[in-house]
Amino acid sequence: MIDPAKFVPEAIERLRREVPDKTLIAASGGIDSTTAALLTERALGDRARAVFVDTGLLRAGEVERVSEFFRKSGLRFDVVLAADRFFAALEGVTDPEVKRRRIGEAFIRVFEAEADRFGTDRLVQGTIAPDWIESGGALRDTIKTHHNVGGLPPDIRLKVVEPLRDLYKDEVRALARYLGVPDADRQPFPGPGLAVRVTGLVTPDRVRRARVANAIVEEEIERAVGDGKIRRPWQYFAVLLPVRSVGVLGDNRVHGEVVSVRVVESIDAMTATSMDLPRSVLGRIAERITRELSGEVVRVLYDITDKPPATIEWE
Ligand code: XMP
Repeated sequence: MIDPAKFVPEAIERLRREVPDKTLIAASGGIDSTTAALLTERALGDRARAVFVDTGLLRAGEVERVSEFFRKSGLRFDVVLAADRFFAALEGVTDPEVKRRRIGEAFIRVFEAEADRFGTDRLVQGTIAPDWIESGGALRDTIKTHHNVGGLPPDIRLKVVEPLRDLYKDEVRALARYLGVPDADRQPFPGPGLAVRVTGLVTPDRVRRARVANAIVEEEIERAVGDGKIRRPWQYFAVLLPVRSVGVLGDNRVHGEVVSVRVVESIDAMTATSMDLPRSVLGRIAERITRELSGEVVRVLYDITDKPPATIEWE
């Protein structure tokens, strides 16, 4: 475990060495990139500019939530609207690795354009150790290409700076608390967003369904935590599956989509266990998803697999 009081001055020193002039910061609103952004602002002040990309693959209310979170953290930032670019990049793609690479590339193209406007060739990212460990490299097999590591296009014009690359999640959380990031224990959300929770084709309609289902899972799990029925899980979300199934709506047959709910406990995301949820909580989630997406989602499953052998996200 790192000692934040020692880590911060060292990281600031390194950042000043690695960024001679100005830098853009890729800020997703997650704990990792927010912590990296705050460190960078401490090191460079006005010479750093944080950018938050609205990919069209975000959760319900995320732009507002992230903006509020940055304001509370004391981070200055700009929002860039880029949903069209991301949906165009994902058109016709079903392979999870291709998806991740296309998303990684779309992010970099957006950052390159913003970096040009800001007059820099540096990009600070919140990459942490599991990101590059699982993204493979010379010694390891690729488990999944994290959008901010293996997803980088070969012709990238930016020099990437990663102040947290040797830290694990629990260490980043300790550092985040030390730097005054509010709510440092909230659940992670993957950089590629809902695209990796929509297995199969990623269309605006399917992303909308995943967004509704994810919001329901979050609300119901947070309610169960608030009511003292369960401990706060590490992560809790919904995944739209690439199969259709038969259901009934009134007197009619519907051939709708299927959602899988995933709620896991973990320490650092390298391993995880599926959480044993009360049947009443699961039942309410299934009832709400099939009612609020009536005729669109007809079946809800609960994922009882641990990591390994499964990963936390489906893709
Ligand atoms: P997996 O699915 O590999 O996920 O067991 C481990 C943790 O990482 C998150 N995750 C990502 N985070 N970019 C991110 O910033 C990514 O590409 C990415 N893929 C997975 C996942 O939500 C879990 O917390």
